[in-house]
Amino acid sequence: MSACEPNRRLELTPGEMRELGYRAVDMVVSHLATLGQQSVGRTAPRADLEKLLREPPPEHPAAAREVLEALGRDVLPNTLHVNHPRFFGFIPSPGNYVSAVADFIAAGFNVFAGTWLAGSGVAEIELVTIDWLRQFCGLPETAGGLFVSGGSVANLTGLAVARQVRLGGRTAGAAVYYSDQTHSAVERGLRTLGFEPPQLRRIPAGGQLWLSPDAVRREIAEDRAAGRVPFCVVANVGTTNTGAVDPLPELAALCRDEQLWLHADGAYGAAAALSPRARPLLAGLEQADSLALDPHKWLFQPFEIGCLLVRQAGWLRQTFTVHPEYMKDTFRAEEEPNFCEWGVQLTRSTRALKLWMSLKVFGVDAFRQAINEGLELAELAEAELRRRPGWRIVTPAQLAIVSFRYEPSGMSAQESEAINHGLARRMREDGFALLTSTVLDGRTVLRLCTINPRTTCQDILETIERLTQVTSDK
Ligand SMILES: Cc1ncc(COP(=O)(O)O)c(C=O)c1O
Repeated sequence: MSACEPNRRLELTPGEMRELGYRAVDMVVSHLATLGQQSVGRTAPRADLEKLLREPPPEHPAAAREVLEALGRDVLPNTLHVNHPRFFGFIPSPGNYVSAVADFIAAGFNVFAGTWLAGSGVAEIELVTIDWLRQFCGLPETAGGLFVSGGSVANLTGLAVARQVRLGGRTAGAAVYYSDQTHSAVERGLRTLGFEPPQLRRIPAGGQLWLSPDAVRREIAEDRAAGRVPFCVVANVGTTNTGAVDPLPELAALCRDEQLWLHADGAYGAAAALSPRARPLLAGLEQADSLALDPHKWLFQPFEIGCLLVRQAGWLRQTFTVHPEYMKDTFRAEEEPNFCEWGVQLTRSTRALKLWMSLKVFGVDAFRQAINEGLELAELAEAELRRRPGWRIVTPAQLAIVSFRYEPSGMSAQESEAINHGLARRMREDGFALLTSTVLDGRTVLRLCTINPRTTCQDILETIERLTQVTSDK
């Protein structure tokens, strides 16, 4: 019977594994070593990619080398390089090589990080690394958390904990408060949890672009008067649009007075707690009941790694524990946690490994310096734009984001809107640098997010020079 022998069809020989691995390493290393000289990448039309990549399921084997070549030729160039030194769009993800290697090791060993029984070593690494993040953010020792895929799931998980702990899992009549600058992941998370649009108080942030505690108080009073149940405030710790931080100490005091849950979305901004320069801006962060932060943004990790911290680690078990009989052998004492009981994922890889390994290899101070330099690059961009005629700063550099418009004197609002609208696209077509636009106060603005440690001052100055040239291209 052929099944009595190991089936080697899904295996390579040790020599073949090494050859494939070395080729893959060479591919990644040459990509990273030449990033600055490459374009920021490209987005191909679907029709072109269909021609290149559509085929029936491949019944027969092909040489791994050829498949790797096709990947390098047809797939990877048709992506935007979010780790490129001149990728300033959305929130970049600089990544780092050590963490990429850690991901490879995690996949190679295929470590199961859902239970202590199967993954005690990596579970301990997750506890330790989560505790480092807790210390960076100043949460008390009672706090705990876990790694998830990213900011969206971290927010969803935090809001699920809030719903369980404060509302016993029910949503009827409850109201949630946040500003119109809040990331869409929060609304998506709330909807997923069963909150209906009329339960969501999306409060206009106005010119200051942060959530006014007075406005929240007014909404709460109205809701109480109408018999509804105010339950949670979501505060921004760095909005995606402009890097604005909601007034955390005031919102925390309000939540204490009104007995509301304070959830903080620090998906991109909370990492700045590491930087002494940015720390004062984030005062109050340590008072959150739950906090989402994304190491795959400003802690330089490759996708996917988000993190949820909650003030009492026990809240996670309270929210997510279910004990099926087929998992009986995995039940442990509380000090040996099963991360599958702390979130929604049973089967999970060890995302902790990459953050742990890179923090150890580079040291925390390298991360701190990189965050500081990101802050400085946005300040440089702001100064350069102020120096040049025609540019108006809309929001100054904050948490490494600056937003601005091209508005030379004498140009009509309509014409200026049309130019700004087209600028991001034209820069993308040019391929030297990538920035994205958003809308503030009804107008298109451009933004640069400068968190990549590979970015140089020259990259910033040349990008602004090219941007200025593009404004006059017809
Ligand atoms: C403030 C904020 N919250 C949430 C998210 C969503 O995070 P993710 O894309 O990792 O799911 C982002 C993403 O940019 C963000 O900037």
